[in-house]
Amino acid sequence: MDISKIQNLKNQAISAVLEAQSDDELERLRIAYLGRKGEITQLLKTIPSLSASEKKEIGQSINDAKKAIEQAIKDTKKSQQTQKIDFDQEWLDVTAPGKRPAVGHLHLVTETIEEITDIFEKIGFTRKTYPEVEWDWYSFGALNMPENHPARDDWETLYLDKLKHQKYGRAVLTPHTSSGQIREMEQQKPPIRMLNIAKCYRRQADVSHAPMFYQFETLVVDKDINITHLKGTLDYFARQYFGKDRKTRIRPFHFQFTEPSFEIDVTCIVCGGQGCPVCKDGWLELGGAGMVHPLVLKHGGIDPEKYSGFASGFGVERVLMMKYGLDDIRLLFNGDLRFLNQF
Ligand code: FA5
Repeated sequence: MDISKIQNLKNQAISAVLEAQSDDELERLRIAYLGRKGEITQLLKTIPSLSASEKKEIGQSINDAKKAIEQAIKDTKKSQQTQKIDFDQEWLDVTAPGKRPAVGHLHLVTETIEEITDIFEKIGFTRKTYPEVEWDWYSFGALNMPENHPARDDWETLYLDKLKHQKYGRAVLTPHTSSGQIREMEQQKPPIRMLNIAKCYRRQADVSHAPMFYQFETLVVDKDINITHLKGTLDYFARQYFGKDRKTRIRPFHFQFTEPSFEIDVTCIVCGGQGCPVCKDGWLELGGAGMVHPLVLKHGGIDPEKYSGFASGFGVERVLMMKYGLDDIRLLFNGDLRFLNQF
């Protein structure tokens, strides 16, 4: 008789007992191993014929196996009983409402992009997206800012060293959505009503500037487009997005790619336009706008003698901050759920 055989038999029996699903199955296993003709019982019967030294070692091992299997059957019965629900003691209310899993929502910036898109689509604008990694020509050259022009400084641009186009110059992480103006004009002949919402990059980081942020750009090109169309469209946006009580104003400014150029302000959310520590004079800056420069139309392949247009470029995070009175743009990028859950 081999001790390892006895061990194997014991292990086999215990694992079968542990997997048993019912009392009947346990009883079958008990009979198979410990019953009158059971495998362990058969081994027990051989003990008297063993030599004295074998009796000690092998006999002991068979008896241990028997005890271990009995114990396993007993324990399994007990644990199966505790798992059974006693329907006299316990009850289940099948009509009770289930536990609701926590449901998230779109990020505030994404929601704002969708809201802006809806507002402009209602008056016939078409949403477009143009490359984030752009050629110098589209971001600057075609917008009347040739190489080394000082106006480029305002865009604090990130250049990509290794990428260069023979005709269109160096690659940049586009610093504004105005690069989409030329691409749109190349693709689409007037009438144009473009809404370009895209990521922009600048070497800036403080409470109101992020190195990556979104802008939304409008471009309208058609016959006889003038400043009243620009003012009317941006007023409409401000009323729809901020509420009917907010007013806008246009202020003279300078951009190389629009003539005349403006900055657009909206009345302050905190004081309603009276003047307060947040806004100082009652107005907050929304972004830039202007009538498309004739040279820009030409670069887009459109005849400035026949067509005119207006364009505007605002920051998505900035309009959102002005709507909700937020004072730190970084709240929109650090993923803090304590902040995001409030919306
Ligand atoms: C421009 O980028 C022009 N392309 C806008 C324009 C378009 C003018 C069409 C005329 C015609 P500006 O650099 O001022 O302009 O940026 C426009 C807006 O983008 C700002 O008013 C601000 O709302 C947002 N913005 C600019 N830089 C950042 C930044 N680092 N972080 C967050 N928002 C920014």
